[in-house]
Amino acid sequence: LSKPIKNICCIGAGYVGGPTCSIIAYKCPHIQVNVVDLSQERINAWNSPNIPIYEPGLNEIVQKCIGKNLHFTTKVEECIEKADIIFISVNTPTKTYGVGLGRAPDLTYVESAARTISKVAKTSKIIVEKSTVPVKAAESITNMLKSNHQPNVEFQVLSNPEFLAEGTAINDLLKPDRILIGGDNNEKGKWAIGQLSSVYENWVEKSLIITTNTWSSELSKLAANAMLAQRISSVNSISAICEASGADIEHVSRAIGFDTRIGNKFLQASVGFGGSCFQKDINNLIYLCENLNLKEVAEYWHQVLVINDYQKKRFVDKIVKCLFNTLNNKKITLLGFAFKKNTGDTRESAAIQICKYFLDEGALITVLDPKVEYEQMILELSNPQLNLPIEMVKRKVQLCSTDVIEACKGSHALVVCTEWDIFKTYDYKGIYEIMQKPAHIFDGRLILDHEQLISIGFHVEAVGKKL
Ligand code: NAD
Ligand code: UGA
Repeated sequence: LSKPIKNICCIGAGYVGGPTCSIIAYKCPHIQVNVVDLSQERINAWNSPNIPIYEPGLNEIVQKCIGKNLHFTTKVEECIEKADIIFISVNTPTKTYGVGLGRAPDLTYVESAARTISKVAKTSKIIVEKSTVPVKAAESITNMLKSNHQPNVEFQVLSNPEFLAEGTAINDLLKPDRILIGGDNNEKGKWAIGQLSSVYENWVEKSLIITTNTWSSELSKLAANAMLAQRISSVNSISAICEASGADIEHVSRAIGFDTRIGNKFLQASVGFGGSCFQKDINNLIYLCENLNLKEVAEYWHQVLVINDYQKKRFVDKIVKCLFNTLNNKKITLLGFAFKKNTGDTRESAAIQICKYFLDEGALITVLDPKVEYEQMILELSNPQLNLPIEMVKRKVQLCSTDVIEACKGSHALVVCTEWDIFKTYDYKGIYEIMQKPAHIFDGRLILDHEQLISIGFHVEAVGKKL
C-alpha cells in the first residue's frame, strides 16, 4: 500500500545531493530532508553562509529551507533509520587501481553507503541509486543489502539518475526535461516506483516521469552523457576542418542546428569538454562494452575521448606556434579555469591540461577566474598524472580572481578557456596597452568580438575559424 513519504535521507552532500535535496525540500514542505556526508568540513560549509558549491540560485533556496525541513548533518546512521527513502548520491570516480584501472567506476563509496544502510536500517526502505553507476549496479546493491540486513527488513532498490548540469542546476531541477525511474518489474518494484514518483509529482508533471527497468535506466544515463559528449567531439572535429579550410564553425553549427532533427543545442565548439562526468561515464561505457566483448562499440566511444584530447593539444600547438615556438618565461593569462561558466568546479577542466602543456613549455601563467579558489587550482595541477613538480607549479602559476589589470600586465597572450560572461565586458583597448607586443588573444570559447579586437591591434586566433 502506498503511504505518504515523510522523511528522505540523502547520502552524499556534493554537487548532486546538495542541490537535488534543496529542491525537494523547497517543493515538498511536508517532507523532512536530511542530507548526510562523512565530511564534517563539507557539512559545516552547508550550514554556514558560504555554502560549498557556487550554483546560481542555490543559496537562496538553501536559506529558505535550512533548519525547517532541510538539514545537513554527519549523523548518517540516525538519518538512515528515520528515512522512508534513501538516496545514494556519493561520488563514483574512475578507478585508479586494480581491475578496470582508468576505465571502471570505483564503487567503494556506493558499497560503503549500502553497507551502512543494511547495518543500520530496522525498518524497510526504498533505496534510490542517484549516483551514476555501471549497468547492473542496482543488482549488486540489492545483493549487498540482502546479505547483511536485519530480520523483517526489506529493501527496494531503484535507479533514478540525475541529469542536472552544473551552472544551470536549479533550473534543470525545477523544470527537468524528464525524471527517469527504473525498478523491478514486479508488484514491489512498481510500488516503490510509485512512491518515488509521488515525491517528484509535487512539482513535475506526471507525463514527464518515465519509468523502466533498472538496467535500462542505468544504461540511459551513460548513453545520455556519451551522446552529449559525442556531439561536442563531433563539432570540435569539424572545427579542425574549419581552421584548415577557411569555413567558420559558428556558421556551420548554426546551419546544421536549424535541422530540427539535429537541434541547435550543444553545438558550441570549444577547447574540449571538461567536468567530472563526461570522461568518467564514457570510460564506464567503454569498460562495459569491453566486458561484453563489443570491441567495435568500445572503440567508437573511445574516439570521443581521443578527439577531446586532440582538441586541447591542437589549441595549445597553435598558441605555441603563434608565439614564435617558445613560451619560455613568457607570461600567459588564462581567462577562466572552471570547466564551464557559472561554476567554481574545476574537475577535468580543459584548462588543467592546457596549463600542463604551457608549464612544459616554460610559461608563467596567471589565471583569471571569478569563482575558482587558489587551493583548488593548485590541487588540480598537483595531480600526479600531470607529473608537474608542486614547487614549480606554485612558483609559476598565479590566480587573480577579478584583478584584470594585474592579470594582463606584461602578458604576451590572453587565452580564453572558460566562457564566463564577464570576459566579454573587459576594456580590451586598455588591456592592449599594458600587454607585450605583439599582443595575442586565443579565443577557445568563441565569446569575444574578434573584429573589434583586431581593430585594436591584437593578433587574434579562435577555435574553428581563420581570422
Ligand atoms: P561529489 O564528490 O561532489 O559529492 C559526493 C559526496 O559524497 C562527497 O561529499 C563525499 O564526502 C560523500 N560521500 C562519499 N561516500 C560517502 C559515504 N559512505 N557516506 C556519506 N557520504 C559519502 O560528487 P557529485 O558531483 O555530487 O556526484 C555524485 C554522483 O552523481 C556521481 O556518481 C556523479 O557521476 C553523478 N552526477 C553528477 C553530476 C554533476 O553535475 N556533478 C550530475 C549528474 C550525476
Ligand atoms: C553534463 C550533462 O549536461 C548533464 O546532463 C549530466 O547530468 C552531467 O554532465 C553529469 O552527469 O554530471 P555538466 O558536465 O555539468 O553536465 O555540464 P555541461 O553543460 O554538459 O558541459 C560539459 C562540458 O562540455 C563543459 O566543459 C562545457 O563547456 C562543454 N561544452 C558544452 C562544449 O564544449 N560545447 C557545448 O556545446 C556544450
